[in-house]
Amino acid sequence: MRLTVRDIQKMKTAGERIAMLTAYDATSAYLAEAAGAPMLLVGDSLGMVVQGHQSTIPVTLEHVIYHSAIVTRVTQRSLIVGDMPFMTYKTSVEQAMDNAARLMQEAGVQAVKLEGGEYIAPTIHQLVQAGIPVMAHIGLTPQSVNQFGGFRVQGKDRDTARHLLDDAQAIQEAGAFAVVLELVPTQLAHEITERLHIPTIGIGAGPQCSGEVQVFHDLLGLYPSFGPRHSKTYADAGKLIRDALTQYVDEVKANTFPAPENSSTMSEQVLADVLANGAADRASD
Ligand code: KIV
Repeated sequence: MRLTVRDIQKMKTAGERIAMLTAYDATSAYLAEAAGAPMLLVGDSLGMVVQGHQSTIPVTLEHVIYHSAIVTRVTQRSLIVGDMPFMTYKTSVEQAMDNAARLMQEAGVQAVKLEGGEYIAPTIHQLVQAGIPVMAHIGLTPQSVNQFGGFRVQGKDRDTARHLLDDAQAIQEAGAFAVVLELVPTQLAHEITERLHIPTIGIGAGPQCSGEVQVFHDLLGLYPSFGPRHSKTYADAGKLIRDALTQYVDEVKANTFPAPENSSTMSEQVLADVLANGAADRASD
């Protein structure tokens, strides 16, 4: 049985911390679910860690539908959240409704995530009224990286801190079931978590959120060009894989792989018969 948004909310009420991971394909989804993550995010971070872009902006709805369909296909228990890419929900409420519906119907996600605060609250409200669970995302919202001028901590000064408090409140009132707080100072994230009854899921927002979300590739050292400070390399799987593949290439070059135990043989008699018949056939041509 899959977990529901209500189960996730009960975790906050029960004081149980929520460990969320991104997943983009069958391998990452199997591993993240097997690790016990109650929620998986098919994040538009796939634009960076899977597609090799510098930001999430080139990601399209079709990309997220494609990856989300894989993740929902191979998981049973985790709640799957599909990220709504850049400009797929901000043009109009109708656009947001149509695209969120596609993510649910074509990819089978149980909830969608979208970036933005107070100004996007009316859209969140409409989606929730239509039966689409919404996870909000405030603080550093990567789709606005060009507006922010980089991946910077948000809410350090009075104005932006006040805005974030208002954003969090508006999102909750609109009906979001949870909110991601990305790159928000620890004290502010704590204050938001205290004020809201919905869970806050931090990333670079300190230890006092209701839970945490991290990018699969960052935790495993699989993204070579960038290691964000807010993450931690739990295993340098990137190095492990590189070393293993280098060994493979060396062994093929040295002709020590494949070895007899990686190969199969046939009866010498059968081979002799085939070759003899082949010779006879050619002679009669
Ligand atoms: O796209 C993503 O992976 C995200 C998380 C980092 C929150 O939005």
